[in-house]
Order: sequence, then structure tokens, then C-alpha cells
Amino acid sequence: MKATDLRGILGYMARFRDRLFVLSIDSAVLVADNFRNLLLDISVLRSLNINVVIVHGASCGIQRLADQLNCAVSDLEGMGITDSPTLELAVTAANRFAHDILEGLTETDVRAAVTNAIVAHPAGIRKGKDYAHTGKVERVDTDFLKILLAEGIVPIIPPVGFDGNGQTFRVNSDQAAREVAESLKAAKLIFISTHNGIAEGGTLSAQFSVAEAENYLRDRGTQLTADLRSKLEHGLHACQKGVQRVHMINGLQDEALLGEIFSNEGVGTMIYANEYQSIRPARKRDVGVIMALIRDAVAAEELVPRSRQDVLDQLANFYVFEIDRNVVACVGLRLFAAEECAELQCLFVSQAHENQGIGGALIEFSCSKAKALGCKWLFALSTQAFNYFQQKGGFSVGSLEDLPSDRQSAYEASGRKSRILVRKLSA
Ligand code: ARG
Repeated sequence: MKATDLRGILGYMARFRDRLFVLSIDSAVLVADNFRNLLLDISVLRSLNINVVIVHGASCGIQRLADQLNCAVSDLEGMGITDSPTLELAVTAANRFAHDILEGLTETDVRAAVTNAIVAHPAGIRKGKDYAHTGKVERVDTDFLKILLAEGIVPIIPPVGFDGNGQTFRVNSDQAAREVAESLKAAKLIFISTHNGIAEGGTLSAQFSVAEAENYLRDRGTQLTADLRSKLEHGLHACQKGVQRVHMINGLQDEALLGEIFSNEGVGTMIYANEYQSIRPARKRDVGVIMALIRDAVAAEELVPRSRQDVLDQLANFYVFEIDRNVVACVGLRLFAAEECAELQCLFVSQAHENQGIGGALIEFSCSKAKALGCKWLFALSTQAFNYFQQKGGFSVGSLEDLPSDRQSAYEASGRKSRILVRKLSA
């Protein structure tokens, strides 16, 4: 995580104060060395007045017990058939994990309580198979959880549910977490597993809008491992039911939780139902940020020097790229209406946000804007970023004749000898 973007971090602290995050922690994370660090991160969230509910899994513990006792299990994840011996193991494993969490949180001075907040009913008989002690979440005892949260107590929810007769059922922790997040109207549901997020061929998908997540699930869902698919499905459902953001992060990675929550770009995969990134016209109050953004680039002669007044005068030509209201990049688009072309100026992305496709997004935005304004081509003058413009921006090397005539004289007078780059805009 880059601590260079303090403005972004502090913005998130204000935004998330008094909100509720539901954490769904896989049992493989609970048995890992990094678990203690994760608990430290949770105590940081509490110290910032972020409310937390912890839902945890049990499969690793069930498997471990089964190995020790040399007995067979009918299902590990709470989605298949849970026979009586497996339920016994599940209850023992769940209690052990809940205790471990209590113990770890006590160590970091966080008050917590193990709860019976999941009301379940039998999953029943499906396609002729009796799911026995596997349960389905019927409802969540939100009143109970709210009482604890109001007292600053972190509720711990094991992957078991109870019916009105005191019968116990094994439930799937991701499903339980989703139900808890939806019924408590949590701001976030965070799946903490041993995966970095949704990745294909080693490339992580940093974020999906709800529509993108739906498409992904439909087109490529079958290629995901069963546990990631289940998280994506539950996460999508939560986003459709009012949870604004769902995250998938790797609980084996130190500081992943804080990195995801307090940086603009995060470290895992996020599904978002609210606005995340946007390009908008610059406003007067952005001038300071634009000046700060381009200062270093001007010093390195990458950009033409501009005074505050220059930027103010040309403000109507400026656009900014913001992530969660934090301005991280800018671009200027100067129209030459008579010549039916426009100049792309002052493209700059803050160092902390490089290599995320933001420059490319601003170039594409400028192209469609220019096209909508009736331009046939776009040009840019660059002393150092010409490779970038050619390789990533779809520009090719042009000549002086490609510039409008008064721009030609200004070019020659500047003596900067910038490369001239041109991109034709298709009709
Ligand atoms: N920190 C912000 C949040 O928690 C944004 C996280 C972005 N994460 C991502 N994987 N793109 O809402």
C-alpha cells in the first residue's frame, strides 16, 4: 500500500466512520500465521469507529478433526449433505475458531461476543437427496446484533444456525455473511480468503461494476474455482440488495484489509454499486490539485509551465479523473473549431496511480469529447511521453502541417521542439 496519498486515506476515514463492515473470513485464513495481523487490522478499524461483524468458516477445522479421528466427512463447506458425525465435527471446529477469534481480539483490546444470530431451517430434500443437518439461513437476528454493535462489541457469527426448537444446522459462511450484510444494511461485505481476488492468467481484476460482475459470472463464471464463484455470486447479490461495495482480498497477505479499505485502488477485487471512478470537467476548487499534480512534471520539463492564473483561465478546457472524489489525474482539451481539430494538453497521472490505465482512459475520453465537438483529429505535443502516446494512446508521429496555423507559430516560438503526435478520429 502506498502511503503517499494521504488525502485519499483521510477521505476514506471520514467516509467510513460509523459505517458497518461485515467480514467473512475463511477458515484457511484463521489457521494461517497472518491471522494475528488481520486481527490487528480489525482493531485499527474499530479504533476509527468503523463497526465490524465477523462471520467465519470452519472447513479447515472440520478436515483437521476428521483426519485426527480418522473418520469420513460428508461435506466441508456447508453446501452439501451434513450427516450427524459431520455436524458434530462442524460444531467442535466452529467453537474452536470462534474461541481463537475471541482470544486474538482480546489481545488487541477489542470486545467481542460469539452469537446465535443465524436463524436457519433445514436445506431439505433436493433432487431426491436429503441434506440432513445442512441449513439455509432463514433470517438474521438483527436486533441482537445491533444491540452488540451499539455497545461497541464485535459480534462473531460461526457457520452454524439454529431453528426455533434449538436444533443446530451447518450453514455456509459466505451465504451467512451475505445475509448479515444485507439485513444490517452494511456499507461493505469483505470476503477474506486465500485468493487475491478474481484473477485470470495471473492478472487480477481490480474492480467490477454490478453489470460487469453479472456479465463475468455469466460468461466466465464456470472457469472460477467453486469457492470464488460462490463469493462472486453472493457478493453480486449483496450489491443488488443495497450493500454498496463487496471486496475479495487475500487474508494471507499482510495489511491487505487496510490496503483495500484505505487506498483508492485497493489490493483485491471489488464489486461496486455506487460511483467509484469518474472523469468530470474541472471546477475552480480543483485548481490547487491540478497545480500540485503537474508541478513535478513541469520541473522535469515533461509539461509546459503553467501559472495558477493560466489554469484558471483555461479551466473550461480541463477535465479531472477522480477516484472516490480524490483527483488523481488531469487532462486539457483545447478546441480549434475552425480547423476541426483539438489539442490534448497537460495529461498527467499522479505517481501513486500510475500504470492503472488512467492515462489511457483520459485519452479515450478526450477523443470522444473531441469527436462530439466535430473534430476530425486530435494532436498532442510531447517532449518525453511520445512513446506512451504512440504505444498506448493510438497516436502517430505528425508534422508541423498537422497543427492549426496559429499553433504552428506558437510551437516554433516556444523552442521546446516537442514531438508532434496525431490521432485521426474515425467518423
Ligand atoms: N478503498 C476504497 C473502498 O474501500 C476503494 C477500494 C478499491 N478496491 C479495488 N479493488 N478496486 O471502497
